[in-house]
Amino acid sequence: MTELLQVTDVVAGYGDGPAILNGASVTVQPGKVHCIIGPNGAGKSTLLKAICGMLRIRQGAVRFKGDSLVGLRPDQVLRRGICFVPQERALFPKMTVRENLRMGGFSLTDTTDLERRIDEIEDRFPILRDRRDQHAGTMSGGQQQTLAMARTMILKPDIVMLDEPSLGLAPKIVQEVFGIMQVMAEAGITILIVEQNALMGLKHADWGVVLDLGRTLFEGPAAEVLADPRIQELYLGGKKVA
Ligand SMILES: Nc1ncnc2c1ncn2[C@@H]1O[C@H](COP(=O)(O)OP(=O)(O)OP(=O)(O)O)[C@@H](O)[C@H]1O
Ligand SMILES: [Mg+2]
Repeated sequence: MTELLQVTDVVAGYGDGPAILNGASVTVQPGKVHCIIGPNGAGKSTLLKAICGMLRIRQGAVRFKGDSLVGLRPDQVLRRGICFVPQERALFPKMTVRENLRMGGFSLTDTTDLERRIDEIEDRFPILRDRRDQHAGTMSGGQQQTLAMARTMILKPDIVMLDEPSLGLAPKIVQEVFGIMQVMAEAGITILIVEQNALMGLKHADWGVVLDLGRTLFEGPAAEVLADPRIQELYLGGKKVA
């Protein structure tokens, strides 16, 4: 098994505060969808932030394509090929959809190439072409999430990390968000998603990771996580999975 990203026993916290992550590990395989589940406050968002360089890693290892990411800044991690969509989506609400897509490619100096990449994204997600002149902040939550996810594809990243992309969206729109994730995966992007709706997240994933109290309790094929009676009891609301 060749891992694209290997997070091993990471210890990290905010500033000089207590360690929030205390032995967090994730194995990320190329081209697969990985879903991190765990209760509120488990450290799921903190783990994504630690991977992308927003938090200092105190102990443990983060290796991507064989190189350590420890000590890199977020922009350096992004340049290596790991893109993070935070829970609050980080769009520019007063800019148009098209301008938001351009911002996603801020580091590209070849503007012809940038416009071509935006065209490709609009081909994949026609709603973004239809809405290209609309201010991002005036779109629905689902459309904004589509934009935030699609925008990551401009830089052709290896990995996209999504923090609770379905939060606050109506069930039908949640399905659409998972559909977008599937399109990204089919385009060859490796996905690392944190999902509050653990059942739904795991059903759309190849690999599951259970995080609690900042530690990885289990990781393995998503089907195994779903079928584990103890994980069902503790983290999946005791629901039996058909
Ligand atoms: N900016 C911050 N500064 C200090 N502590 C923080 C900060 N953000 C989160 N924490 C703390 O880190 C712990 C883990 O939070 P985190 O947001 O990573 O959990 P989570 O698993 O993503 O939870 P949720 O399901 O609620 O999103 C919590 O105790 C939280 O209070
Ligand atoms: Mg969170």
